[in-house]
Amino acid sequence: MTSTLDINGKSVAVKAAPETPLLWVLRDELGLTGTKFGCGMAQCGACTVHVNGDPVRSCVTPIAALAGAKIATIESLGGTHPLQQAWVKHDVPQCGYCQSGQIMSAAALLASTKSPSDADIDNAMSGNICRCGTYQRIRAAIKDAAGLTAAPVVAAPAAAKPTASNDIDDEIAAASGSTGRGVGQ
Ligand code: FES
Ligand code: FES
Repeated sequence: MTSTLDINGKSVAVKAAPETPLLWVLRDELGLTGTKFGCGMAQCGACTVHVNGDPVRSCVTPIAALAGAKIATIESLGGTHPLQQAWVKHDVPQCGYCQSGQIMSAAALLASTKSPSDADIDNAMSGNICRCGTYQRIRAAIKDAAGLTAAPVVAAPAAAKPTASNDIDDEIAAASGSTGRGVGQ
């Protein structure tokens, strides 16, 4: 039996059984591997896609529920979406695994809310987990893409020139603190 799905603006015939989660069809049958498997239980957001514009967990969405729906994956953004440009500008990803899901949730937010507040962002992104803790950079990138003022994420390097005998230790500490990659970011 085949099903027909509307994915990224194209009508696609798939062979998977109707109860198969969309995530498996995207990755294994269609080769759209930008959408990631994380928990498989709607708990992490790594598998987020859009269904009729809403962010949906594809790991728990059977294709039987998607007849006539418009599905969009990270591939539909084309690499040049304002969010993707902001993600690059703010150097958001660390390991990167969660990031396509993060961007899809952010894209759904900006499609419905042109100027999101911090609370709007936190609410929209609360279901997307990042084990690397990139949340501050994600928020800054969303604000940047929305044309809002984003708080600086990376601290400016220290201007003072060390003069004491422990100059090297001070320089290493200053350099470490200027990377913006510390735990909790
Ligand atoms: S893999 Fe779907 S929410 Fe985690
Ligand atoms: S960047 Fe590593 S899990 Fe989010």
